[in-house]
Amino acid sequence: MATYLLTQLNEQGVLTLTLNRLDKLNAFNSAFYTELTEAFNQADTNPAVRVVILKGSENCFCAGNDMADFMNGMDFSKDQPLVQYMLALLHFSKPVIAAAAGPAVGIGTTMLMHCDLVYLADNTVLRLPFTDLAAVPEYAASLILPRIAGHQRASEMMLLADKFDAQTALEIGLANKVLPANELFSMAEKSALKLAAKAPVSLRHTKKLMKAELISQIEKVIHIELAHFSTALESEESKEAVNAFMQKRKPDFSRFN
Ligand code: COA
Repeated sequence: MATYLLTQLNEQGVLTLTLNRLDKLNAFNSAFYTELTEAFNQADTNPAVRVVILKGSENCFCAGNDMADFMNGMDFSKDQPLVQYMLALLHFSKPVIAAAAGPAVGIGTTMLMHCDLVYLADNTVLRLPFTDLAAVPEYAASLILPRIAGHQRASEMMLLADKFDAQTALEIGLANKVLPANELFSMAEKSALKLAAKAPVSLRHTKKLMKAELISQIEKVIHIELAHFSTALESEESKEAVNAFMQKRKPDFSRFN
């Protein structure tokens, strides 16, 4: 049934979720979010799953939300696929290991902030392009990134919207390790097997305790950001940015003031 997400569960309890919409650089549309949400929700209640690896290919993690959906207008209410996915990963009780190579843009970067271990390849290029889309950050990046990176470095990433490399992500504390792309998935598997052999209740409680202080604030910020995002997408500035991407040209904001 799944079309965009490949799932594989091994005997040790490692569930590998592989993003597989490579012709669109794993951009997330509604159907993709729904598959991800179902996979995480099922994994949470399935006792055979002890740890999840979330990965793309050796050349591409995720190019963010599908721009065509921005163009067609999006609903950010709580029951919508994007929001459901954000909440499913936010509240997922078992360890999640992300292994990202190539482009990790928009939610391709922000979802890393909600994974427990993050391994990046030396070809990973991260970017939070929201101001260039005349939009605002999402998935509580406006709360989490300044906390881990400091205000000034977060500003480079969110105001200037500069792309940044895996080494920078490592330096700011967004990643655990940077590896050659061909070693990325074996590193993720090695850590996953280590976690899968540990006491599962202890892992779940430890994760919950580490997240306890911030989780309700994060959830609140997710909804606040999305309310701004929704308004922003209606703006002429944002329409120009999204149209420019679809027409493969640079946006021209000179007529706005
Ligand atoms: N939504 C929809 N389609 C996307 C996409 C997205 N977010 N990102 C890439 N694609 C599509 C492209 O339209 C293209 O499709 P086509 O071959 O049918 O024309 C295909 O994926 C390859 O992308 P392309 O831009 O040609 O690859 P590239 O290697 O030149 O550039 C990126 C890679 C990631 C730098 C560039 O695709 C990009 O900036 N994507 C948009 C990222 C973004 O702003 N996402 C955030 C949304 S919040």
